[in-house]
Amino acid sequence: MKQEQLLELLQELSLEEKIHQMLQLPGAYYEEGAKLTGPMQESGLTEEMLQQAGSVLSIYGAKEITAIQEEYLKHQPHGIPLLFMLDVINGYRTVYPIPLAQGAMFDPALSKELAQMAAKEAAVSGVQVTFSPMVDLVRDARWGRVMESTGEDPYLNSLYARAMVEGYQGEDLAEPYRLAACVKHFAGYGAPTAGRDYNTVELSERTFREYYLPAYQAGVDAGAAMVMTSFNTVNGIPATGNRPLMRGVLREELGFDGVLISDWAAMQELIPHGYCADRREAALRSLEAGVDIDMTTGIYSQQLAELVREGKVEEALLDEAVLRILELKNKLGLFEHPTKDADAEAEKTLQLCDEHRALARKAAEESFVLLKNEGILPLEPGKKVAFIGPYVENPEIHGAWSFMASAEDAVTIKQAAQNWFGAENPLISYHPGAPVLEPGSPLSGLGSQVLPQVTQEETERWLSEAVEAAKAADVVVLALGEHRLQTGEAASRADITLPEVQMRLLERVCDVHSKVAVVLFSGRPLDLRRVVARAEAVLEVWMPGTEGGSAIVNVLTGQVSPQGKLPMSFPYAVGQVPVHYNEYATGRPYSPEVEADRFRSRYLDIPNAPLFPFGFGLGYTTFAVSPVMLDVESISLAALEAGETLTARVSVTNTGRVAGTETVQLYLRDVAASVVRPVKELKGFEKVTLQPGECTTVSFAIGKDALSFETAGGQRRVEPGRFVVFVGTDSTTENAAAFDCR
Ligand code: BGC
Repeated sequence: MKQEQLLELLQELSLEEKIHQMLQLPGAYYEEGAKLTGPMQESGLTEEMLQQAGSVLSIYGAKEITAIQEEYLKHQPHGIPLLFMLDVINGYRTVYPIPLAQGAMFDPALSKELAQMAAKEAAVSGVQVTFSPMVDLVRDARWGRVMESTGEDPYLNSLYARAMVEGYQGEDLAEPYRLAACVKHFAGYGAPTAGRDYNTVELSERTFREYYLPAYQAGVDAGAAMVMTSFNTVNGIPATGNRPLMRGVLREELGFDGVLISDWAAMQELIPHGYCADRREAALRSLEAGVDIDMTTGIYSQQLAELVREGKVEEALLDEAVLRILELKNKLGLFEHPTKDADAEAEKTLQLCDEHRALARKAAEESFVLLKNEGILPLEPGKKVAFIGPYVENPEIHGAWSFMASAEDAVTIKQAAQNWFGAENPLISYHPGAPVLEPGSPLSGLGSQVLPQVTQEETERWLSEAVEAAKAADVVVLALGEHRLQTGEAASRADITLPEVQMRLLERVCDVHSKVAVVLFSGRPLDLRRVVARAEAVLEVWMPGTEGGSAIVNVLTGQVSPQGKLPMSFPYAVGQVPVHYNEYATGRPYSPEVEADRFRSRYLDIPNAPLFPFGFGLGYTTFAVSPVMLDVESISLAALEAGETLTARVSVTNTGRVAGTETVQLYLRDVAASVVRPVKELKGFEKVTLQPGECTTVSFAIGKDALSFETAGGQRRVEPGRFVVFVGTDSTTENAAAFDCR
């Protein structure tokens, strides 16, 4: 449809019809046969509102969506199709690693391919919009949703935001297999106080702009069709009713002109927040802020017409919102093809196809982070291996959002190991060792589920059997981890250790065996002090997805070398949280050289440094990085302004005995500036794959973008002075050179 036709269509709509477009229904309203049911009385919505709601979330499946769309259009006097949205977070039927694990790949280009694959699988099931990417920066491992973020770094997050939006959307939303992307949650949702989900966010304007805003900007710049509001307050005002944030920062500053949707029931929450007295005020504030779609509350549908008639709201505000919604439907080509790519046949051939599984496996392999290895990995061939632990046979390795996928499609460690070693191999044995959680543990949160009932006696029996199996083996692989539903939304944890019952297993097995390699499943950084103290090797595998087991066995057996790097610091203890590498410089910095000085920014009882820093990860080989060479000692501001750059160069050598991949990382520090700068900021990285003894040169161009920041005067620019350039293999590198900016 042409723009003029859309404008004409808008003119034809009655006030009520426009308001219906702004309502999003939860999928629970529909039942099979495309009949509208649901708790109509409680919601206060009329049949007409339900029938003409502009969008729906959480319905998927080509057959279901086709039936609903056909039925819907029978009652739609203007032929405006219904829009279908869903949380496609890390895959659809083929599940790939959670976003935090993708951060560890340090490979946004691969994330783009993964997003393309997810878009394809979801599109043939009729989905048109995904509520992804979540680009919220995170620093607090207690928050369950760190699993949905790519980590603590604004530069890295921005690259992923762009890659994922491009992957889902492609060049043209109307093309086959494209989904509209929704950047969320605007803004600052990743910083809930004390790591408690939905809690207040306290961010200074500077911290907000310096660290949190860049990834949203990157998503918007990449052309994201939608943005979602966050639940939290920003500067004391809940985001969903925050006009300066939405109309000012998002639309004017970041230049977003797509559809803004509230998060689930966020409009209603303006009332308990104490920002609005009632639903009428909530409607008013949300519309004034520029929220186009009300996710699930019905507040717009019930309140807006009266507000317009009373002259409390200008109809122009509504027109603006509805036009944006119609434009999105049009960009997706829905007026011509209301069910877009929905295709029940393609669902069968495309979803979980070999090609998709291979891509998911590659991503999982790239995302694993080897945290410790005292030479026991890769496993030596011909040895007796005991695979012990609750994750040996557990297919629940998809992460919290993957309710469209089935656990049966996931490859477990045992299945993959049997493939590699042979099912009847007498050298290899498998033992549960312990349940994931203590018998009787409560588990709530998304898709709360009943834990398999393991009795106390059975738990004891598993434990003893595991200890005996360990004694009989040459090496033990201990597959431990958080429960899938201990991570994700509404899954904040104050104690981020492994469940007690698994720690007991670890201690008992390590008491009888010195060669224990832990394979660790988690949706967040955990407190691993005890695990690291006892195990000889630790491989972090996150929630790896459908091909998790195959990828793990490929890495354990050395067919593939681990190469992931932490996208988020692993705290030494929860008392350090929030802990992140790119902190602002303090006036009393601590370093080991000033150990004797108590009056430093430090703890008395634990180190300042996290247990494992941002950017850290081992491989099966070692690399040497040469001192940093700069091509100039100084550069003028005028030259930078004219687009010139200086170059930092290192040579990197594989000093080990096997091939491997290293991620060479560039960090900058602005030594003195009009505002305090972070001690280090990631500004570039490059992955290199080298054969034993092979050497290569890695160069980074450093220009205006990398050196500029929002100065005390409020402009983004480079200030003259000294800069330190660090190049190394993690964020603690001290391999540095300096230059001046004149
Ligand atoms: C979450 C969003 C999600 C939405 C729809 C909310 O509870 O915060 O991230 O997209 O539900 O499922």
